[in-house]
Amino acid sequence: MSSDYDVIIIGAGAAGLMCAATAGYRGRKVLVIDHANKPGKKILMSGGGRCNFTNLNSTPANFLSDNPHYCISALKRYTPQDFLELVERHGVAHEEKAAGQLFCKDSAKDILNVLLTECEWAGAEIRLKTSVSGVQGTDTGYNLATSAGSLTCESLVIASGGLSIPTMGATGFGYDIARQFGLTLLPTRAGLVPFTLHPDLKEQLGPLSGVSCPVDVSCRDQHFREPMLVTHRGLSGPSMLQISSYWHPGDKLTVDLLPANRIHEDLLSLRKNKPQSTVGHYLGQHLPKRFAQAYNDMHGWTGPLQGYKNSDLEQVAEALGQWHIKPAGTEGYRTAEVTLGGVDTRQLSSKTMAVLERPNLYFIGEVVDVTGHLGGHNFQWAWASGVAAGNVA
Ligand code: FDA
Repeated sequence: MSSDYDVIIIGAGAAGLMCAATAGYRGRKVLVIDHANKPGKKILMSGGGRCNFTNLNSTPANFLSDNPHYCISALKRYTPQDFLELVERHGVAHEEKAAGQLFCKDSAKDILNVLLTECEWAGAEIRLKTSVSGVQGTDTGYNLATSAGSLTCESLVIASGGLSIPTMGATGFGYDIARQFGLTLLPTRAGLVPFTLHPDLKEQLGPLSGVSCPVDVSCRDQHFREPMLVTHRGLSGPSMLQISSYWHPGDKLTVDLLPANRIHEDLLSLRKNKPQSTVGHYLGQHLPKRFAQAYNDMHGWTGPLQGYKNSDLEQVAEALGQWHIKPAGTEGYRTAEVTLGGVDTRQLSSKTMAVLERPNLYFIGEVVDVTGHLGGHNFQWAWASGVAAGNVA
């Protein structure tokens, strides 16, 4: 086996494999190293096993970053349509679930196979179960001390991902390399992650585990109108995962349980037209039965509406439209889909993903401070940043 390469990529995940194929097609001698026993483990578990591989409506507004303009160039130059064309060239059956969200019809394995086939066609080598114990900059590139011996390369690409789901092989390797070469790191935290609750609310909601309802949740000037799922540990579902990326410890969430309704007007007209009706009856018409019952019990709303004063109805409307929840925390990296923060992009070229002061060292994918919303945006960033680096490394 050779030990001298043009490009070595650390991390055989979404970004690393995409970068490897792109650089390989340019005639570069490419090696991808991963310490895991299989490539693309997160691809395989993504999208409930069917990989939400892109989002046709992806725009830079779907990404969080301390430097929001950084992602624009790469996302513009490799679009969701470009990835879709690749997937279609390989004959992968796919379907659009929610607006713009593209999933495999059969299995996430199909996406991994596209990437592995592309790497093979491009002549990129992949070495698994290989760990890197040291990286040293040289006049011509890098020397790597690995469990497979000493390796050299001209260009080094760090595609080792973030900290989420350590059992899938996530490590802070990319951050250590960034530190070693003097780069600034932005604080990391778990994103797209379920919330945990304080004991009282957890107990009240516990029996509702498995109930889902469409809500509008807001926090820090952001809001998402998507389903909320009560679990035995706390709150999850797309709305909660999305807002978790904006939430900081101590923040309150505000949940509108009936975002499609004008709750106060509804209650006033119900009191006028059906005075014997109850809040519980109104809730039962608009929320899942178990949730309606539990929420009604939590607030002790009893008796016919004709017994409610205007101010009472205002209070009911507020409790339904602005339910304030202070989560205890999140489930953390153990279940988070992504890691927010990471390598500060101000030190990288938005065209090539290379370190400005060290143009043969690249950072791509989740290791950098670019994090997408739920819905295929994170893979789109992995593909786009992988291609941007692969075109020059
Ligand atoms: P990724 O984490 O994919 O790859 C990093 C690679 O580096 C891994 O193979 C790892 O083993 C390797 N590595 C780490 N440390 C190393 C070391 N020290 N030495 C050698 N190798 C090392 N996104 C989306 O758009 N649609 C979706 O459907 C989903 N679904 C989803 C479900 C779940 C459960 C999770 C956890 C995440 C998602 N995501 C998602 C997010 C998506 O998986 C994520 O954004 C990308 O995988 C990031 O790609 P990267 O290549 O940057 O890292």
